[in-house]
Amino acid sequence: ILRTNVPEGLRQPPGPKPFPVIGNVLELGHNPHLSLTAMGQRYGPVFQIQIGTRPVVVLSGNDTVRQALIKQGEDFAGRPDLHSFRLLSNGKSLAFSPDQAGVWRVRRKLAMSALRSFSVVKSGSSGYSCMLEEHICKESECLVQELSTAMETKGSFDPFRHIVVSVANVICGMCFGRRYNHDDQELLDLVNINDEVGRVLASGNPADFIPLLRFLPNRVMKEFLEVNDRFLKFVQKIVTEHYNSFDKNNIRDITDSLIEHCEDRRLDENSNLQVSDEKIVSIVNDLFGAGFDTVSTALSWAVVYLAAYPEIQAKLHQQLKENVGMDRTPTLDDKLKLPLLEAFILEVFRHSSFLPFTIPHCTTKDTALNGFFIPKNTCIFINQWQINHDPTIWIEPSTFNPERFLSPDGTDVNKLTAEKVVVFGLGKRRCVGEAIGRAEVFLFLAILLQRLHFHKLPGQTLDLTPKYGLTMKHKTCQLGARPRAQEAA
Ligand code: HEM
Repeated sequence: ILRTNVPEGLRQPPGPKPFPVIGNVLELGHNPHLSLTAMGQRYGPVFQIQIGTRPVVVLSGNDTVRQALIKQGEDFAGRPDLHSFRLLSNGKSLAFSPDQAGVWRVRRKLAMSALRSFSVVKSGSSGYSCMLEEHICKESECLVQELSTAMETKGSFDPFRHIVVSVANVICGMCFGRRYNHDDQELLDLVNINDEVGRVLASGNPADFIPLLRFLPNRVMKEFLEVNDRFLKFVQKIVTEHYNSFDKNNIRDITDSLIEHCEDRRLDENSNLQVSDEKIVSIVNDLFGAGFDTVSTALSWAVVYLAAYPEIQAKLHQQLKENVGMDRTPTLDDKLKLPLLEAFILEVFRHSSFLPFTIPHCTTKDTALNGFFIPKNTCIFINQWQINHDPTIWIEPSTFNPERFLSPDGTDVNKLTAEKVVVFGLGKRRCVGEAIGRAEVFLFLAILLQRLHFHKLPGQTLDLTPKYGLTMKHKTCQLGARPRAQEAA
């Protein structure tokens, strides 16, 4: 089935021999980021596997991935039509649906402009530099309080469980103009989703490629559908409330600004009618969904690394104490004063590579890469984990060492080295929330570091092996924290 007519001068990508019906599924195993990295060592940065009967081209290596996603960006900018992607947000997701290029581009632009207006645009009025800073500072205060209460009442806490609510509140503030209490059951049911749900959307989910598997009883799939349904109902309720109270003279948040766009477009006869109102307003589903899971996973990893590496935490706190002080809340502008914190975040991104693959891509036309022919509509996996652990780029890639990013005197982050870490994707599909994600991780962490000292529990060893998924989480764990104020006393 797979024989393609390879144009003269080009070759078909190499790869392991597939079994009938299942292809190379068994070789993917439980950790596709590791098995596909190992295959890349054998077959090179462009190789082909088969999942079920569908060919998938896997790209690794900094140069090859940049060539595909940046220099040949248009050719590789599509999304494959996969089973789980069709189920997500009723098939209307901006990030996952195989929208035509024109429709996707309009929606992406709208998403970026709505996000900008309610996050990083400078505001002079509130005492904060922008809305994002205000949301993060307020949520960090609550988070510190929540963690301190957990310490007083239980003597430990599950970091992800608390962080995810605070991060969800930041994106809820921007998208819906509201926040939730840390014990709000509706929000907890939504954000504390089972890790296995992330497996459904991860690269290499066999049910996306082998239709038969969709009809077998499948607990993980059932749970995914339930979470998806809960999620849609949650957002839909808020969107309906927004429609009912919409006032074009008072645009309150991202949902309002998307509704406003639909209203404006109705008045504009030359507008592109192909993008339905539903597809415009449902952009908020993507922003909310992508906005809490990624950032909370990053922050939770960061806190676990702080507890696992007390000597690094001590240096981070020292730099913060010297360059910001303990008397005022850190701000986004403090970033340049805290190069070790920036280096630490980069190393958390690199070492955990908690988004091991980008969302799968798809070729939009017949193309060629490194002399290999890749036909239109081929599903493409981009192995970010491999780039972040490539021994030709990184000295001792499995060692956690933030100082690899610093200049010899420790005062600057080396920008060229920093750019080699790939966690937000690259090129046309690069994450639209990158600036917000980076700002959130920085400021939440700076505030947490200023107020709390994180530590392991007596006798505890922390296992930093990630659990595979679209976003890889650390194993569920309990940690401890002491208020810094108490330490000083
Ligand atoms: C796409 C990473 C935060 C919204 C992506 C992709 C990655 C990624 C790897 C896929 C790129 C590709 O397919 O090539 C991250 C990381 C984050 C983060 C590591 C935080 C540390 C956010 C935030 C938002 C967001 C805060 C929104 C507020 C999106 C959207 C897409 C996307 C809408 C789809 C873009 C498209 O398909 O055109 N992100 N992200 N992300 N991200 Fe993020």
